[in-house]
Parts: sequence; C-alpha cells; structure tokens
Amino acid sequence: MKTTTTNSLVHQDIQQFLASSRKMLIDGKWTESASGKTFQTVNPATGKVLGHVAEGAQEDIHRAVQAARQAFDTGPWRRLSPSDRGKCMWRLADLIESHTEQLAQLESLDNGKPVTVARVADVPLAADLFRYMAGWATKIEGHTIPLSVPYTPNTRYLAYTLREPVGVVGQIIPWNFPLLMAAWKLGPALATGCTIVLKPAEQTPLSALFLGELICEAGFPDGVVNIVPGYGETAGAALAAHPHVDKVAFTGSTEVGRHIVQAATGNLKKVSLELGGKSPNLVFNDANLEAGIPGVASAIFFNHGQCCCAGSRLYVEKGIFDQVVSGVAEEAKNIKVGPGMDPTTQMGPLVSDEQQRRVLGYLESGFTEGAEAVTGGHRVGESGYFVEPTVLVNTQPTMKVVQEEIFGPVVCAVPFTDVEEVLQQANDNIYGLAAAVWTEDINKAHRIAAELKSGSVWVNCYNIFDAALPFGGYKQSGWGREMGHDALELYTEVKAVCVKT
Ligand code: NAI
Ligand code: MG
Repeated sequence: MKTTTTNSLVHQDIQQFLASSRKMLIDGKWTESASGKTFQTVNPATGKVLGHVAEGAQEDIHRAVQAARQAFDTGPWRRLSPSDRGKCMWRLADLIESHTEQLAQLESLDNGKPVTVARVADVPLAADLFRYMAGWATKIEGHTIPLSVPYTPNTRYLAYTLREPVGVVGQIIPWNFPLLMAAWKLGPALATGCTIVLKPAEQTPLSALFLGELICEAGFPDGVVNIVPGYGETAGAALAAHPHVDKVAFTGSTEVGRHIVQAATGNLKKVSLELGGKSPNLVFNDANLEAGIPGVASAIFFNHGQCCCAGSRLYVEKGIFDQVVSGVAEEAKNIKVGPGMDPTTQMGPLVSDEQQRRVLGYLESGFTEGAEAVTGGHRVGESGYFVEPTVLVNTQPTMKVVQEEIFGPVVCAVPFTDVEEVLQQANDNIYGLAAAVWTEDINKAHRIAAELKSGSVWVNCYNIFDAALPFGGYKQSGWGREMGHDALELYTEVKAVCVKT
C-alpha cells in the first residue's frame, strides 16, 4: 500500500501500522467491513493518501451494537468489581503513556497538528482522563433518603438510590482532537460500567484504531469497546438511530447535533451533545497585556482554530484596541506554519480540503462584506491544507464571520467602550460554549464571569483543560457536561428503591 510519509522521522510501529489496511474492532476481534469496502485517510500536510481503513456502515454498526448489548447484558463486565474496572482503565492509561510517541505521530499525520503539541497535550491529557475517570469507578454512590409519605403515616421505609450504568452507548466523535475526544467519551462510560460503540471521524480514524489495540492489550472483556470507523451519513446515522443503543453522545457540528436528536427519537435514547462555539474573549484596559496578547492569540490559533471553544471573537476596550490588535497580528505573523511532523512547526494544516475551503469561504464572505485582514487572509502554499493565521477588523455584528463558527485560524477583533455594551455583544450569539476575561480587577472578572452565558469562563488564561473540570455548552453549544464528576451523570440512570421496614 502507498504511504507518503515513510521517512526516518516516522516511528517504526507507525510505519507498520500504516502499511496495511486497518480493520474495525467488534467483539474483541479485528474484522473487515461487511461490505468489504475501505476508505482512504489523507495526510493534510500533503493531500496524499496516508492509509486505508475498513468502511463501517449500517450492518457493521448493527454487529457492533449486538456485541456491546451482549457484553452489557450478559458479559463479565458488569460482574467486575468497580475496583477491577478502574484497574483496567489504569492499565489503558499506562499503555497510552508508554505509546506517547506513536500516538502523537499518528495524530500529527492524520490530523495535521504539530507532533510537538500532541506529545505534550493530546496524549498526556488522554492518559490523565482515563486515570481520573478510573478513580470514579469506585465512587459512584447513591443516597439514603428519609421519607414522610403522608398517606401511610404509621409506616416506616428505608429508601435509597442506586446509580446504574445507562447501558449500551453510541459515541460519535470529531476530527479536531481525535484521541482526546475518544478518551473524553470512553472514560466516563467505562468508569460507570457501560459498553460502547465508538465511531471516529472519517477524516481521522487512525488514533482511535491504535487506541483499540491498546484497549485489547489492557484486558477489557470482548465487546465492551467496539470501534467502527465510517462516514457520518451511514455509520454515524445508523448508530444514532439504532433501537438497541440506550444513549448517544456526540461531539461535532450543531447541524449534525440536530440530526442526532431526531435520530434518537425512535427509542428515545438519552442524548448528550457537545457542539459548536463562537467564544468571546474580552480584554479590558487594565489587563496585563504582556500575558494577555500571547494569551488571546493562542486562544484562537491553538490547534489552528479548530477548537469548539476557540476564542474567535476578540473584544478589546477602546484605549488599548490598536495595541492589542497589532500585538496579536505580530504573534500571528511569527507563527511557523508547516507540516505537523516537522519539529519546528507551530501550526500545521487544517484537517481537510473541505475544511480549508470552508475557512477560505468565510474569509471571502468577510472581505465582501467589508472586513479587513490586518494579517493573513489566504491559504499558504499550493499543496496541503494550510491557511494563514488571520486577524480581521472592521467587522459588523451581523456579519457571518462574527456570528458563525469558522473553525479555522481566524479571529475578529472588535473595539468596545463599556462593560454593558461588551456583555451584550458577547452574549449575542446562538452559542455559549466558552468565554474569557482579561483584567487585573478581580471584582470585575467575577462579575463578568457571572454574566457571560457560557459553559466555561477563563479569567486571565484560555484553553485550560483538566479531566476534573466540567466542559460543555449553554444555548446551542450542547446538552450536558463532559469531564469532571458531572460526566458521570451522562452515563448513569438513577434507581429509587423503597423498602417497607
Ligand atoms: P460533523 O458534525 O459533520 O462531524 C462530526 C462527527 O459526526 C463525525 O464523526 C461525522 O462522521 C459524524 N456525522 C456526520 N453526519 C452525521 C449524521 N448525519 N449522523 C451521525 N453522525 C454524523 O462535522 P464536520 O462536517 O467534520 O465539520 C463541520 C463543522 O462542524 C466545522 O467547520 C465546525 O464548525 C464544526 N465542528 C465542531 C466540532 C466540535 O468540537 N464541537 C468538531 C468538528 C466540527
Ligand atoms: Mg459534516
């Protein structure tokens, strides 16, 4: 098979991994798709084929759901003690850590992100997530509840709640953090004792399949984790609609989030959604700009702007607007754009030609409507899906570039004069995922944090993630919270038991 990156930089394990067509994981076995079809995954730095992957569709999803169903209903997974479930997850975390280089390279090759970033962020965060969630396996508790039933005045009861796993879970993840999104989804589901069918994004299936090998090695019983790569409209849609799936968890576009909700109506499966964002980043005159300027630049340019929480609307108080805009533009110009596998690269290509076209389309629409680029605004080079880090000014609140999620390295900078005005603008959006405030006035920071309609607010920092910190959206950014102990609620049912004593 043709691979385009078999140079000495690529770890031998990964060269081997890419050398044959990758299969799907169903019931603990690596299998071909029912149709026999495969699809290509592309290296976004070159636009050339990186590997081939089994193309899952309805029948494969059905087989995987059956395996997960059986593993949940009758398999050994439910009989494992919570402590043993946690130990399995710890073994997986250790394996992720000992394969950091392989996973980081695979992530870079398939997604485009700098390998240097994947090594210190994506992979360690994934390992840490499994460890954090492993700790919860032994701490999923109910309550005892005193009753005072008015129509049985002379009877006493012992009442308590049990938190039980929701059952078979379908998980559909995007391409921006392929390994980490798999971890965010799998971690709480495994900790609570669910079984899973995971569908990675068609653009970036490889690290999830590599993770599948580590899952087998860690000793999870067959059928507990099934991984079916394939396209959204086929494999994804089949998983969201499947009548034997008890819950579907989705991360991706708001548009597809709506499809997921509709598909779930058949059996009224539980749904959690982590969708888009257009996050406001507020910089006040009294901010520490030495930290603030690089901070707001990295809020948008980290992961090439392909973050659901990217700080894509930059509101700067009038007195410092020019200084901040030129500072951020300077940061943007200094970012070294190149292939993710080059150790000196700071920003890689966007994930796909489709994403590049989408981002360039937004830039075009902004320019047509009168926005101007202080820096950037174009693609970089002729091959690969690179786009310049871009700072736009002269925008209007109604422009598409200000209202819609671009999901690329493009920030709109807007001046403001007072707190009320900026809060009104910051909250004037269908999304509510994240926001940030930069100020040295701690009272102002707390006041604004309380007024922002978003699931995360960072003060004098941005993109700070931790397995213990819940993440999710207000408004059309989603339903539910991932990470932290809140995530356990997405994967458990509460049972009330009432005993007459
Ligand atoms: P998408 O929402 O189409 O894809 C995300 C996942 O959903 C993939 O696994 C895909 O196969 C699956 N999917 C697609 N259609 C489906 C369907 N009908 N039923 C079930 N599953 C389905 O996102 P796409 O097209 O890759 O990117 C479009 C835009 O979405 C981006 O420009 C960005 O604005 C947003 N997005 C947001 C993400 C986030 O982290 N919240 C991640 C990826 C994209
Ligand atoms: Mg799509």
